[in-house]
Amino acid sequence: MNYIVKTAMAMCVAACFASCGESADRPDAAAKEQSQDRSEAVVDNIMSRRSIRRYADRQVPRDVLDKIIECGINAPNGRNQQAYEVKVVADSASAAYLADSVKGLYRAPVYMFIANDTGYDMSLIDTGLLSGNIGLAAWAYGIGSVNLGMPVRSIKENPELLKRLGFSEGYDLCLILALGYPAETPDAKPRKSDKVQFVSICE
Ligand SMILES: Cc1cc2nc3c(=O)[nH]c(=O)nc-3n(C[C@H](O)[C@H](O)[C@H](O)COP(=O)(O)O)c2cc1C
Repeated sequence: MNYIVKTAMAMCVAACFASCGESADRPDAAAKEQSQDRSEAVVDNIMSRRSIRRYADRQVPRDVLDKIIECGINAPNGRNQQAYEVKVVADSASAAYLADSVKGLYRAPVYMFIANDTGYDMSLIDTGLLSGNIGLAAWAYGIGSVNLGMPVRSIKENPELLKRLGFSEGYDLCLILALGYPAETPDAKPRKSDKVQFVSICE
């Protein structure tokens, strides 16, 4: 084999190794970058969420609502019992009626009334996790929400209205979520970082 042929073969082998190396590295780098982008998007969604109390006069599409609800019920919950019931009010006549008649209920296109199963001692935690998922999923779709405790009391003082929500026996209304496209951009409220402490229980 003359020198030129040997050199050409060596170059081919080298090019082949180089291209094999590239194709093996690239998917790794792309996957890493994609995973980093996804983590940043999730953290940004959590950190940018704010309670929204003023909403645009715009309906939330039903398919988006369905997706948000699906994310809500995908939350962790005790024994997977899903010890809650949620009544969603999304028609404009009912939403307007509620805003006019319930004290502390901000005017919104969608309300979710959440009740916990009083027969299960962890059910309130389930409702909180459900509501957390709903709020974050909604925010990811550009929809604001606020958890409401105060109007729960108003509704409980109105048994006729409570009955119309139609919760099953043994379920107690504990939380309301108002949702809609934001018409305000509130600032973040300060958090107390010393509420969380690392402790060591071994010397
Ligand atoms: C269980 C619960 C009950 C709440 N009740 C009310 C309420 O009745 N009225 C209200 O305006 N906001 C209510 N909020 C919203 C809080 O005020 C709000 O989440 C808090 O100030 C932090 O602000 P951020 O959500 O914008 O970070 C409630 C929140 C939770 C979790």
